[in-house]
Amino acid sequence: MEAVLTRDEAVARPERAAPRKIEARVKSITSLAEDINAFEFVSADGSELPSFTAGSHIDVHLPGGTIRQYSLCNPSTERHRYVVAVLRDANGRGGSIAMHDELHAGQCVTISTPRNHFELSRDAERHVFIAGGIGITPIVAMIDDVQRRGEAFHLFYCARTRQRTAFLDALEPLVDAGDVSVHFDGGDPRNGLDLAETLGHHTPGTHLYYCGPGGLMDAIETASAHWPEGTRHCERFSAAGTPVRNDDDRAAQEPDAPFEVELRRSRQTFAVQPGESIVDVLRGHGVEVDTSCCEGYCGTCMTRYLEGEPLHRDSVLDAEDREEFVMICCARSKSPTLVLDL
Ligand code: FES
Repeated sequence: MEAVLTRDEAVARPERAAPRKIEARVKSITSLAEDINAFEFVSADGSELPSFTAGSHIDVHLPGGTIRQYSLCNPSTERHRYVVAVLRDANGRGGSIAMHDELHAGQCVTISTPRNHFELSRDAERHVFIAGGIGITPIVAMIDDVQRRGEAFHLFYCARTRQRTAFLDALEPLVDAGDVSVHFDGGDPRNGLDLAETLGHHTPGTHLYYCGPGGLMDAIETASAHWPEGTRHCERFSAAGTPVRNDDDRAAQEPDAPFEVELRRSRQTFAVQPGESIVDVLRGHGVEVDTSCCEGYCGTCMTRYLEGEPLHRDSVLDAEDREEFVMICCARSKSPTLVLDL
């Protein structure tokens, strides 16, 4: 079992801390494939950016106030820039359209420090990645890391068509080396990767990482259900039904009970009634908090707590994170009072 992260360690590993805002500038926008652009951000004052680990993502505060999360795809050794790749999704919630249509090179924009809920295992002997479409973005950075470490890996890259598939040229040498296989299904998953066969057998020491559309994620989760606990890692950018596995999950599904939330730094205490979120209550009292999904999967509202026992209802925080942080858009409290570092 891994040790619980202390506060000092969290400060030393910024991607484990609550996000801070950074004033950034869009240095360049580059087309990677049909409807997929890469956006390169540098700090507005030219200083180095906070370091990050492969698998991290940042918030981008878009014109109009929308906040969206995008995974970093550049090498985690770089400190001079953050690069994200975004698919323009005409049927999405509007964030990707704003990225494509409203951002331009030279524009100043607020972003957040990177945070990582999709880290590479330090114990794995072999890494298996499955990327679906634009879900490739964190995995590109992870593969760069794994290659630098000299560790064994294989990427199964699933996409519809070659025209709408990013990073194909960069991955070509790895395809030739047999470390990457690309599967085009033309829009019909029955023509794609055979997940039952790919994930049917678990070799000890192998860890699985997956990111992509919800349907693919669910299918991977089912096909790998027999893999040992702690060997599967995923990044979701939409809500997922969370299976009930333990007492915490059961408690998270119980009816809401009232509790108090105390803001230690601003010395305020508010009552949170059933049906209200902590975010609702804070905003109702004029306390500014950033949110994006409001469903517990994006991480934007991650807040440090100081006392009390949260009732976590997010799908992002792992056991280590939950010792220290809470997603205030969806969490409640098991204790009568939850004290936040706000
Ligand atoms: S706003 Fe997305 S996790 Fe809370």
